[in-house]
Amino acid sequence: MIVARTRAELARGLDSLQVRTSGRRLGFVPTMGYLHEGHLTLVDLACERADVVATSIFVNPLQFGPGEDLAAYPRDPHRDLALLEVRGTDLAFLPGVEEVYPGGPPRVTVDPGALGDRLCGAFRPGHFRGVLSVVAKLFGLVRPDLAVFGRKDFQQLTLIERMSRELELGVEIVPGPTVREPDGLAMSSRNSYLRPAERAAAPALARALGDAAARFERGERSAPALLAGVSEAVRAAALLELQYAEVVDPVSLDPVDPVEPGSVLALAAFCGRTRLIDNVTLGGA
Ligand code: PAJ
Repeated sequence: MIVARTRAELARGLDSLQVRTSGRRLGFVPTMGYLHEGHLTLVDLACERADVVATSIFVNPLQFGPGEDLAAYPRDPHRDLALLEVRGTDLAFLPGVEEVYPGGPPRVTVDPGALGDRLCGAFRPGHFRGVLSVVAKLFGLVRPDLAVFGRKDFQQLTLIERMSRELELGVEIVPGPTVREPDGLAMSSRNSYLRPAERAAAPALARALGDAAARFERGERSAPALLAGVSEAVRAAALLELQYAEVVDPVSLDPVDPVEPGSVLALAAFCGRTRLIDNVTLGGA
């Protein structure tokens, strides 16, 4: 596995893998590191879909708000590199902040528009502008044919699909399934913040989503009824505080009622001081 820390090393690495010259398809998996099985499943998917796979590890300051966890964000690059190598990544790109943003934060950024103010965006102003801007920049540096993103970060996936399409970036966006712990908790690098009692409480979120999906299967089509069930289940669980829960159209992110197959029930909740997100597509998919 090639490890590149600078733009020059990245360019040399991609050259040596002959991605631009031999018509080999390049797949890309951007991450912020502290890798878990969710990330690695995206790497597997990229390996299936592409001939050469690049993964980036970069904790992007631009997408963290004041008072968020940028400084505390967990990091373990040596372990990450070992995992990526085992899973078949050809090139790992681990740039420093200076390498990605020489001369400081960019003055030109990607505006997610009104979709960036919905759901999580309502509580994290500027977050999706930071995400889209770094993903566009990484696409520019790596120039992949396809890039894989997890459904776990549903709004992020929706916005990146839209950015790639509407700005004609020429990158096929491939969604990957949400990978969960055996008790249902969606894997996240931030789960490492949870104390034992919080970790024990956290799976109630996935259970609430699973119950809502089952009610939908049994014929419940009222969004307020499904959401009331979710709020009730989360309220009943110790240590959890719901920030929002909404049923939305996966493309427009507009609230839907009555609920249709393919609608997404998305939520965010605090578990102690850790913010967790999760979602379920109603009616499968
Ligand atoms: P990060 O949180 O490290 O996630 C990297 C990728 O892994 C994202 O596509 C995310 O959706 C996916 N992922 C995380 N947990 C997952 C799970 N349990 N199952 C499946 N996929 C999962 O998302 C980011 O980083 C950043 O915002 C980034 C896109 C890298 C831009 O900085």
